[in-house]
Amino acid sequence: MTGSSGSIFSPVSPHAQAITDLFVISLWICAVIFAIVAGLVGYSLFRYRWREGTPEPEQTAGHKKLEIVWTVIPFLIVLLLFGLTVRAMQHSDPPPSGNPDLIVVGHQWWWEVRDPKNGFVTANEIHIPVGRPISIELDATDVLHEFWVPQLTRKMTTVPGARNHVWMQADKPGVYEGVCSEFCGTQHAWMRFQVVAESPEDYAAWVRHQQSAARPPAGAAARGQRLFRDMTCVNCHTVRDSDRAPNAGPDLTHLATRRQIGSGILPNTPENLRRWLSDPQQVKPGVKMPNFKLTDEQLDDLLAYLHSLE
Ligand code: CUA
Repeated sequence: MTGSSGSIFSPVSPHAQAITDLFVISLWICAVIFAIVAGLVGYSLFRYRWREGTPEPEQTAGHKKLEIVWTVIPFLIVLLLFGLTVRAMQHSDPPPSGNPDLIVVGHQWWWEVRDPKNGFVTANEIHIPVGRPISIELDATDVLHEFWVPQLTRKMTTVPGARNHVWMQADKPGVYEGVCSEFCGTQHAWMRFQVVAESPEDYAAWVRHQQSAARPPAGAAARGQRLFRDMTCVNCHTVRDSDRAPNAGPDLTHLATRRQIGSGILPNTPENLRRWLSDPQQVKPGVKMPNFKLTDEQLDDLLAYLHSLE
């Protein structure tokens, strides 16, 4: 599956479609008004320009009919835009119903994705079945963020301690780009995520896999696991093989299956993960993860462990 354009001009859900329609209609109405006004101004400039010997044009003050016309027409246009906006709001943001399918939590600078119904947690990659509206509850841990998948959802702010809600739906399978669209600090630009919309069967298989615990590591991976525990990685990251569940950093239980690392900053390849572990600050300055100054040998073991987290 390839990535999408992420453009609001190619909506793939009824919610995003309503917003795109409103934008296009408003743009056309404004374009027609602009053309009429600019045309009349241009015509008058040309037709009534000053010529040698012409007398001063007739001066008029007050014209009741004209004034009524230019008050009523804009009023009707505003009324029409108001009606279209209310309709778009209803279609793009219906009220939540029942328990949310997902709880998405904004952190500086990544997204925690909880699936309360299926009982697992992941990060920066949301899988959904095609064609079904997904109810998402939004929360944040530190500052305001804003959840937005231009092709699938409206924008919605995530507020620490106050739950907001958004609907998300994808009518075509694909990978859709999501962003944080409210400035939230140094790495606001790299607070991205992807939505993978897939067939109900593929989605169910993905869910089953996410529910499973991490595979017990062996060899170099087992040494890496010891490092992971000794180097305090476990203080921020969860690997679901114990009862501890810190969430200061992304859940890594199935890290190896994810498409990207650093909330979209790099594709999840062995070289990139090595670069990240060698010095996270060099890849994503300001990120909360410190440089652990790992030796090459430690890096090899830790990478073996992380790659085993399929
Ligand atoms: Cu989070 Cu901008």
